[in-house]
Amino acid sequence: MPAPTTSASFMATIVSLCKRRGFIYQASEIYGGMGNTYDYGPLGVELKRRVKDAWWRSVVTARADVVGLDSAILQHPKTWETSGHVVNFTDPLVDCKTCKARFRADKLEEVQCPQKPSRTPLENKCELTAPRAFNLMFKTHVGAAEDSAAVAYLRPETAQGIFLNFKNVLESSRLKPPFGIAQLGKSFRNEITPGNFVFRTREFEQAEMEFFVPPGEDERWFEYWVTERFRWYTELGIRPEKLRLFPHAKEKLAHYSKGTTDIEYEYPFGWGELEGIANRTDFDLKAHSEASGVKLEYFEPETKVHYIPYVIEPAGGVDRMALTFLIDSYAEEEVEGEPRVVLRLHPRLAPITVGVFPLVKKDGLPEKAHELEAELRELGLATFYDEKAAIGRRYRRQDEIGTPWCVTVDGDTLQQGTVTVRERDSMQQTKVGVKELGAHLLHAQRHWKRG
Ligand code: GAP
Repeated sequence: MPAPTTSASFMATIVSLCKRRGFIYQASEIYGGMGNTYDYGPLGVELKRRVKDAWWRSVVTARADVVGLDSAILQHPKTWETSGHVVNFTDPLVDCKTCKARFRADKLEEVQCPQKPSRTPLENKCELTAPRAFNLMFKTHVGAAEDSAAVAYLRPETAQGIFLNFKNVLESSRLKPPFGIAQLGKSFRNEITPGNFVFRTREFEQAEMEFFVPPGEDERWFEYWVTERFRWYTELGIRPEKLRLFPHAKEKLAHYSKGTTDIEYEYPFGWGELEGIANRTDFDLKAHSEASGVKLEYFEPETKVHYIPYVIEPAGGVDRMALTFLIDSYAEEEVEGEPRVVLRLHPRLAPITVGVFPLVKKDGLPEKAHELEAELRELGLATFYDEKAAIGRRYRRQDEIGTPWCVTVDGDTLQQGTVTVRERDSMQQTKVGVKELGAHLLHAQRHWKRG
């Protein structure tokens, strides 16, 4: 049963669950918060780590043609001049002449007027200035002098660190196009109107991969990566009907792109970009070659030809991915007259894989449950021991944070060597032998499919 009624109440429900159960908190909360910045709590950090692991596995370690990189956030300022960010990385900014609020001119229908929060600035007929270009990069100074010679930028995308290291990776590995370099890491953008929880923030984490191909093979690889990335989301349980592909119109393309298709998700606040796949052509390598004087090209030994590869770039946001998995997995149900909240997270993403409970706090059951929990941990499963409250209530608490299985230790465990495995999605309970428990859970984790 899909949950709450209006889009605003659905988002409020997700935000409240995230805080209450320790997924995501408002940053600097004790000082009144720092506008639109967030901290990940104990469960959120596990969810985010698992999203990154699943991405890294799919894009890097499961393949022979992609390697990883971890480049610096601060790069030489020429990087951003050459990449076009100093001139082009802008949003159109307008000011309200009455209340002095600032808005993105192209998002006026999505924001609230601070004086009348029930209306957008357009509905409120606010008197706005003409739009002007506002650069989104955060400027800082490196070293002790705060003069213009010391200006540096916090990276607005992880991609440029990959282009700057193209030659290093090529020379230190035995790769030849087509091959990719992937990177996970923080990026910073001074967004004019951040919002919708962690959907748009000023500090966020990206998952980007630059796939270098011979010119002429770019369109085929572009289609390949659009399909591959769409499949990744559905394999991890996102409902396909909530996803769509959105090809950008030619006149709306970024300065570096020959073609871009977004993977969009239908959020409670409308369709929004989850990930973009762009054909960046040879724009970046060519520009950095010219600006640095260092040739960023590939020499094909068979044909003795030097060429600058074209680049296909799948670029996603980790915070947006985590938010999407939370929203898409959330459901409210009624079970035997009682409400049940459940996160149907893929077991590979769920912060806790198995709850381990003694049925009662006596008769040696807690000791046996602790023993079993330690064995499951040894197998690499994330476990949580709980002996408080009635068993039904313990199940509900795990449902709400997406724990796919709960194991209950009872009298049969001591006498017959069996436990009860309770499954989150169907709520079915099965008796499983203690000796088979680890293998049973690992098998179930591997073969899970969203119902
Ligand atoms: N290198 C290309 C690039 O950065 P982008 O579409 O600007 O492309 C890629 O960003 C992804 O990063 C987006 O699809 C989104 O998931 C995430 N992202 C971008 N800006 C963000 C923000 N302000 N807050 C959270 N995530 C953001």
